[in-house]
Amino acid sequence: MRFHHLLASCVLVATSFSAGAQMLARPGWKGNGLSEQPWWKNAVIYEIYPRSFQDSDGDGVGDIKGITSRLDYLQSLGVDAIWLTPIFPSPQKDFGYDIADFTSIDPQFGTMEDFDELVSQASRRNIRVIMDLVLNHTSDKHPWFVESASSKDNPKRNWYVWRDGKDGSTTVPPNNWLNRIQQSAWQFDPKTKQFYYHYFAVEQPDLNWRNPDVEKAMFDVARFWLNRGVAGFRLDAVNTMFEDAQFRDAPPLPGTNEYGEPARSQEYQRNQPEVHDVMKALRKVTDSANGQRVLIGEVYTGSTAEMATWFGAKHDEIQLPMDTSLGFLNKRNAAAFRKKMTEAQQLKLDTPLFVFDNHDRPRSWDRYGDGEHNAEIAKVIATILLASRSSALIYQGQEIGMKTTPPTRKEDVRDPRGLAGWPKEKGRDGERTPMQWNPGENAGFTTGKPWLPIPADYTQHNVELEQKAKGSVLNWFHDLIALRRANPSLHEGEQVMLDQDAQNALVWVRRSAKATKEKPPVVVACNFSAQPVTLQLKKQVTALGIRGSFMRSLLRTDGGMGGMNLDEVKLPPFGVFIGEVRY
Ligand code: GLC
Repeated sequence: MRFHHLLASCVLVATSFSAGAQMLARPGWKGNGLSEQPWWKNAVIYEIYPRSFQDSDGDGVGDIKGITSRLDYLQSLGVDAIWLTPIFPSPQKDFGYDIADFTSIDPQFGTMEDFDELVSQASRRNIRVIMDLVLNHTSDKHPWFVESASSKDNPKRNWYVWRDGKDGSTTVPPNNWLNRIQQSAWQFDPKTKQFYYHYFAVEQPDLNWRNPDVEKAMFDVARFWLNRGVAGFRLDAVNTMFEDAQFRDAPPLPGTNEYGEPARSQEYQRNQPEVHDVMKALRKVTDSANGQRVLIGEVYTGSTAEMATWFGAKHDEIQLPMDTSLGFLNKRNAAAFRKKMTEAQQLKLDTPLFVFDNHDRPRSWDRYGDGEHNAEIAKVIATILLASRSSALIYQGQEIGMKTTPPTRKEDVRDPRGLAGWPKEKGRDGERTPMQWNPGENAGFTTGKPWLPIPADYTQHNVELEQKAKGSVLNWFHDLIALRRANPSLHEGEQVMLDQDAQNALVWVRRSAKATKEKPPVVVACNFSAQPVTLQLKKQVTALGIRGSFMRSLLRTDGGMGGMNLDEVKLPPFGVFIGEVRY
């Protein structure tokens, strides 16, 4: 792999904050070195699932020291920030998303010193650390919930959502609401004879955000980590934070849910308007810290327009709500992609944060692959992610073409969601298998017994091998990130989709407002089919007021070196050509 170190190393400025906070206060912190935009606007953010990234102590579970030991790799890949899924003390009923203490580190991942060291080592490599902030719920072992459940008149009773059963019943829940896996969202507590609400697992009771004490306590948590130098938060499950104040029954919907059962609306359990007040208030908290901290939202919306409501009418809520409507389209259809990519550009002031992969969904390798050209298709997906006008989220392993490896027998399932929902719901183990570092024992992940099995293909798909292999998926990610950073048009230029009717190709132009001979517009052409194609783009490019007929090659998947004429763009099956227009 070629190593591009495009960012000048900066001298740390002493402040009264921790090492991480020093990082955030350094001069020249703005942007990626190319523009005055805030750093997160065109950032490449890399999601780490700590259990499965790198184990340093041989217990088979990844840890913080393991992450620190892999920072050089992340720097060479060119990422701006890493987002860590939760590493706080937890009974691990939802592998960290059931938090029993928001301001400590779970010993299986390490210590607070290990965490501070990670932030400081990351800072030296110009990598920011983003934490997961789980606002919707806690673990049932969190002292707040233990107190809340202890009696009906405990001062913390109202920190969670407690209700009497229907007509005082101890068996019929307060209403018909279902949880994430379509089972009752209510759990009866025999001691206090009421039900508590949980949108996720039984061990994850929902906090009551209508209680101002909850907001205060959670904002203190945010301040705690901001003071430790984190660059921001990925906000977990924000659209489920509030429930309908009247607890109205969920009306039926036509059709079936993802498990083939009669569908029911979740309109009273999701996206309640009150959540926007909390987002605004939280944004004030992050904005009051120095150094451009960012809020990233797990909002799961069906359309860009719906996603855009999370920016806030005055751009005073979440800076980067995740736009999953593109990445989770789940059909390899050029027209559908073009439509979503066009919609996303209408945001103008804001950039979308595109996500194709995460720790909750089968990997894009399998959702988009055709079984024959998966590596080439993975490069097309990477191109959409990294050469379009967007901030980009990469999930560990995506960059080496890791595939989903779900368990086939219930006894092998580790994800509690799979255990609770088997066989309809197989859980998320398949996308959480350990990172494949090298062709050695346990793929270099651990010297012990890995907590989830290593997929059999690790001998072909691993970092060590792919760094050396010309044309690998990993080198494509690497080169794209480097190009996106170095090229002003790709870095922050506007985006116009071309070839509007093509079924077999996805083509767009990026050009910076200051396009000149030295900063020419860039054409990105992806073959969306298993047959070779030849594209004629000259007329459309000219119609945009761009002169020139020839493109100098910036990156191409076919291994060729030369440029191409705009009217003769030849692409092999699922091939990509990125070139700048010369005139
Ligand atoms: C989010 C997380 C997921 C977790 C859930 C409950 O969707 O990404 O892993 O199970 O929230 O916290």
